[in-house]
Amino acid sequence: MTGLLAPEATPIPARIPRQARTRTYVMCRPDHFEVSYRINAWMDPDKPTDRELAIAQWEDLRALFIELGHHVRTIDAAPGLPDMVFAANGALVVDGKALISRFHHPERQAEARLWAEWFRQQGYTESQVVQAAFTSEGEGDYVTTGGAILAGNGFRSDPRSQAEAEALFGRPVVSLKLVDPRFYHLDTALAALDDDEIVYYPGAFDPQSLRVLRQLFPDAVLADEEDALAFGLNLVSDGRNVILPEPATALAGKLRAHGFRTHRVDLAELLKAGGSVKCCTLEIRD
Ligand code: ARG
Repeated sequence: MTGLLAPEATPIPARIPRQARTRTYVMCRPDHFEVSYRINAWMDPDKPTDRELAIAQWEDLRALFIELGHHVRTIDAAPGLPDMVFAANGALVVDGKALISRFHHPERQAEARLWAEWFRQQGYTESQVVQAAFTSEGEGDYVTTGGAILAGNGFRSDPRSQAEAEALFGRPVVSLKLVDPRFYHLDTALAALDDDEIVYYPGAFDPQSLRVLRQLFPDAVLADEEDALAFGLNLVSDGRNVILPEPATALAGKLRAHGFRTHRVDLAELLKAGGSVKCCTLEIRD
């Protein structure tokens, strides 16, 4: 396992010491994982997958979150829903309210009801569990920052869901258009490192969205195509520790130069379905 106990060294001392904030995450063990259909450019049902290995890699990720002091809850995996391991897609949770996803592809639509049930079981009231009226794939396409919620569209989430999120959470939602089918969810091309710091791969966005990103985040860390293809942007940060896929070595170096501690995890089995660290992790903001 990579980096479970020893974070990678920080060669350049951080100007500002980075502060970690304890997070609550929900994850779904890949008990029914397989690649039996193709709904993104990474999936190839003809390639074999190893479910035991997927579970072991996922367990390593969960153990790392716990070791870093975070709370991890789980939702039960359901047979026939092989992509349910990608918990980030199930909802967007801000200020104790959950916007339950409406999935674009029929293959995943049954996940929504299970997520709504899960939130009710956790004690959320009816008014705190809101079913999206338009296609919306949770934290796959929504990245919450201190100021605004950034919202991706172009492949999955319907831009009309953005007004819905804005009304529900009372926070500004900034629309970003994705243009490269390899980076079909916002969380494959952009990540929040801290409340007001982000990292993104410019090649995934249309020119208008790039202008918006440059204006809002002039100091953002920029990832290159190689970082993005290694699924490096599909990371989770607690403000100090950044957990990212093992092959994203160059991006890990850039983030350490910005004062973050990086932890690389091997989720190669799950990447066969087009997901990695962030896709497996839904943050609960109560
Ligand atoms: N096979 C899944 C899909 O295409 C992968 C989702 C990955 N999750 C993510 N947040 N990008 O829907």
